[in-house]
Amino acid sequence: MSYLVLARKYRPQRFADLVGQEHVSRTLTNAIQQNRVHHAFLFTGARGVGKTSAARILAKALCCERGDAPTADPCGVCEQCQEIAGGRSVDVIEIDAASNTKVEETKSVLEGVRYAPARARSKVYIIDEVHMLSSHSFNALLKTLEEPPPHVVFIFATTEVHKIPVTILSRCQRFDFKLIATTRLTEHLQSVLAKEKLAADDEAVRVIARQAAGSVRDGLSLLDQVIAYVGDAKLTRAIVADVLGVADRRLLVELAGHVLERDAGATLRALARAADGGVDLGQLSRAFLGFLRDLEIAARVKDAGDLVDATPDELREIEALVGKGAPGVFAVLFDRWARLVDEASKSQTPRLLVEMAAVELCAAEPLLPIGDLLERLDALEARLSGGGAPAPRTGGPVGGGAPARPAPAPAPPAAGPRSWASPPASSTSAAPSAPAPVQMAPSAPAAPSAAPSLGASASPAEIWRAVLARFESKPVLGSRLAYAGVTAFDRGTLTLAFPDKYTADAVEKSRKDLEEALSAVVGQPTKVVLVTGEAPAILKSEASAESDALAADKKRRETEARQHPLIQKAQDVFNTALKEVKTP
Ligand SMILES: Nc1ncnc2c1ncn2[C@@H]1O[C@H](COP(=O)(O)OP(=O)(O)OP(=O)(O)O)[C@@H](O)[C@H]1O
Ligand SMILES: [Mg+2]
Ligand SMILES: [Zn+2]
Repeated sequence: MSYLVLARKYRPQRFADLVGQEHVSRTLTNAIQQNRVHHAFLFTGARGVGKTSAARILAKALCCERGDAPTADPCGVCEQCQEIAGGRSVDVIEIDAASNTKVEETKSVLEGVRYAPARARSKVYIIDEVHMLSSHSFNALLKTLEEPPPHVVFIFATTEVHKIPVTILSRCQRFDFKLIATTRLTEHLQSVLAKEKLAADDEAVRVIARQAAGSVRDGLSLLDQVIAYVGDAKLTRAIVADVLGVADRRLLVELAGHVLERDAGATLRALARAADGGVDLGQLSRAFLGFLRDLEIAARVKDAGDLVDATPDELREIEALVGKGAPGVFAVLFDRWARLVDEASKSQTPRLLVEMAAVELCAAEPLLPIGDLLERLDALEARLSGGGAPAPRTGGPVGGGAPARPAPAPAPPAAGPRSWASPPASSTSAAPSAPAPVQMAPSAPAAPSAAPSLGASASPAEIWRAVLARFESKPVLGSRLAYAGVTAFDRGTLTLAFPDKYTADAVEKSRKDLEEALSAVVGQPTKVVLVTGEAPAILKSEASAESDALAADKKRRETEARQHPLIQKAQDVFNTALKEVKTP
């Protein structure tokens, strides 16, 4: 007897055999038991998830001769059941719309609808790939669907439900077939292997199931492929990965480990080994993207077992990797790798892209919340001006003891360990120090007593410029002050207006510094009042002056463009008017 491929050999014959489509089986079973069977069904879903199989089971359920009425559990042995299973029944008509798209063919098939079934209880039309029908054919079908003869049942199956006209959709009872979860598919493949009396490692079967991506037929076909290679021998993870040319999980774990160690050499070598071993790099990069997604989720969600596709052992592996990554790093890695996957799919030289992207991953910095960054800048600023953190002792070892360390101020990322991996707790010599704080001479520009005062008669513009100059060494405060407009200056008080409360509040914290600098510039004690909102400014903020200048420049370039002889000529030739001028 010739070899029957597994997918055909193990086609489900009863509702109970349909894996992962319990919602369909249950509803159909109930409908049959209550004798409320619809006259038109639409089965949709991905390839190889049981649509055609379910259609045949339903046909058998309607036609089985064991009892006097349709049964939810067809016997499988009566003449009707056997003919339907073998595709020989004259009353169960299967049409593949992909090869019968012509309207005449549909018409001739539909003509038979009027006649009573030859032998069975009902006449069942199974139209596969129904989305392929022409619009004429759909119209012919629609007429029949509007007034179906009582003995006729239509079952349409399609992978592309969005191509079905709504007029048809609205006349059908629709069932959405699901992709099968990896664990469920693994169990199914294992049961098939047991029936075939073949041995396999759990991990090996899981690699196949993962690769099938939810399609039972794909899973069984891959299994066929592997069995053809190994014969009666036991299926192992390594053999399966080898035969299918897929990146197995070990490789993904290894790659992630090297990336977290920021070891570009090891990452590239692992990639090269995989590529030389026949792993498809496209498949590998997609699998790695999925793995980075799992890592990110495991990093953010406690007990993420239900959210990532992994066995308990694999989950522990994932958690170990997560423990090595700095917070926020997986999102960055995912983002970069996602771009690569997109580009590599269009490239003639995907391997080069994959390699360069891998190198880039090894250099990626973790995402930091903006609040953290601002805090770090503030701390840095305070230290630069000699204000905030305690002054470091830069002298040699004191009295034979360990060198005094500066207070552990939040370390900027560049000063962190070279690898994503946290340094081993026992290693003391490798522990990196925060960057040596720079000690500023007391004559730094920020020191209020530095420059001579301008006197109270100076113009607000002069005074404000001099104050800003004093904050040049404090970029954060300086950039906030650039948003301030001076709205008033009299009797020892300077009023500053800010566009938003956030900036005003932030500057409020440095009020003392600001007033000291201002008093020093004016040469007498001067207070600052901070307000928010649009007030008529006697001196505009630098930021708004800047945007005014930009707007003026844009306008000037627009006018130039409109008056350009070439443009004017073009308007004449095409007898048209210039609609818009785009300036960069
Ligand atoms: N839910 C399922 N349970 C068990 N086996 C299934 C299931 N879905 C598919 N299979 C297996 O895959 C084979 C093909 O299934 P079927 O023809 O029903 O898929 P389909 O959804 O109609 O696919 P297509 O869209 O490609 O026509 C079956 O013979 C069976 O071996
Ligand atoms: Mg089908
Ligand atoms: Zn039967």
